[in-house]
Amino acid sequence: MNISVIGCGYLGAVHAASMAELGHHVVGIDTDPWKVESLSAGKAPFFEPGLPELLTSAGETGRLKFSPNIKEAADATVHFLCVGTPQKPGENAADMQFVEAGFTSLLSIVKPGDVIVGKSTVPVGTAEHLAERLALAEPEATLIWNPEFLREGFAVQDTLHPDRLVYGIDESPRAEAAIAALDGVYAAILADDTPRLIMDPAPAQLVKVAANSFLATKISFINAMAELCERTGADVTLLADAIGMDDRIGRKFLNAGLGFGGGCLPKDIRAFMARAGELGADQTLSFLAEVDAINTRRRVRTVDLAREELGGSLHGRKVTVLGAAFKPNSDDIRDSPALNVAEQIRLQGATVTVTDPAALNNARVAYPNLMYVDDLEQALDGAEIVLLLTEWAQFAELDPEYVGGLVSQRVLVDGRNALDPAKWRAAGWQYRALGRH
Ligand code: UGA
Repeated sequence: MNISVIGCGYLGAVHAASMAELGHHVVGIDTDPWKVESLSAGKAPFFEPGLPELLTSAGETGRLKFSPNIKEAADATVHFLCVGTPQKPGENAADMQFVEAGFTSLLSIVKPGDVIVGKSTVPVGTAEHLAERLALAEPEATLIWNPEFLREGFAVQDTLHPDRLVYGIDESPRAEAAIAALDGVYAAILADDTPRLIMDPAPAQLVKVAANSFLATKISFINAMAELCERTGADVTLLADAIGMDDRIGRKFLNAGLGFGGGCLPKDIRAFMARAGELGADQTLSFLAEVDAINTRRRVRTVDLAREELGGSLHGRKVTVLGAAFKPNSDDIRDSPALNVAEQIRLQGATVTVTDPAALNNARVAYPNLMYVDDLEQALDGAEIVLLLTEWAQFAELDPEYVGGLVSQRVLVDGRNALDPAKWRAAGWQYRALGRH
């Protein structure tokens, strides 16, 4: 099939390459010429495991191309809208300018029979508004809302092997053909017995923000338990293991620590609260404000732990932070808890050196006053305290004796509960973690 993907960020680039992998002819459109150039050369403009290989293999087939020009999408019959919906500066609400711009550009090329597929995370009501505009511009085209649930770091796998496909579509004489077109795009995925849920556009838009709100709530729940554990001497990891064995609760997303960041969970819960307010239901989601507050308190607590371990002041101290990305296997630093903590420590007078396997270039731009060192050994050299803030495998597997030989004193804060305290203490380390004694 001929497909276009509008917006080639973390979602769109992976979607475009994955659809080409499924055998379709795909054109990815992005207004950023650098991104288009990089993708056209088969280079991923961000770190995402599996994406470079996919870009190369799909590029070789000639089925995948990228362009800044929307006219290149004119031959496509299915158009995926994959632009970002970041938080508006100074407000909780989502910034819809990219959705508006992407959709407006699509209206200039849409033909009778085309299907526009909304994948961006949007406030509920957006699809209905866009469908009205589409009906005026091209009454013979159809809009389907098809939220995306991919996780960064697993984006290729999640796109090609999703848990479920959700189609949100209004009843209309064209609905059947539009569903058949999207089924055609996803034929290989559907052949894998992937559940496909067809519903109205409203629940389809809500599924995404509801899922992300639930995940954020689960993380903040265990982090609230961690706060209690800190006061009672209990170990939150044991608590999580024990409650997680109940199938109804489950152990996933119960890792206590520095909490959630990234370009999705924080802004999605805030945009959801803002939308609920607009709908006259602000009290309904007020618990999400608490979820957000618990999450940001963990960052402050991590800074406090570091200061306590250094005897009450960070001023003039040499601090090494392991991790800049908001989570491992990503170079995304949007709302990164690790960088937030590093910057708070710097503001309290410490010299902070940050190292990360993938995210340093992005971090340098966003936090220019931190020191960045690519080489792990060099980053640890002479540190008075080490903070592990993003649990990359290479950090979680570090040998305490080896690290001990590089630092000037063996003091560690494990912000992700990623290390074995007994092992580090046995090697003479002063070990502190969130929710653990
Ligand atoms: C999240 C959702 O998991 C995806 O399903 C969704 O599609 C995506 O947002 C999106 O909206 O596009 P992502 O932001 O890639 O995916 O990252 P997650 O794996 O959800 O992690 C989010 C944050 O929570 C990270 O900072 C991570 O370190 C933290 N986290 C995760 C914890 O603190 N504890 C946990 O137990 C799990």
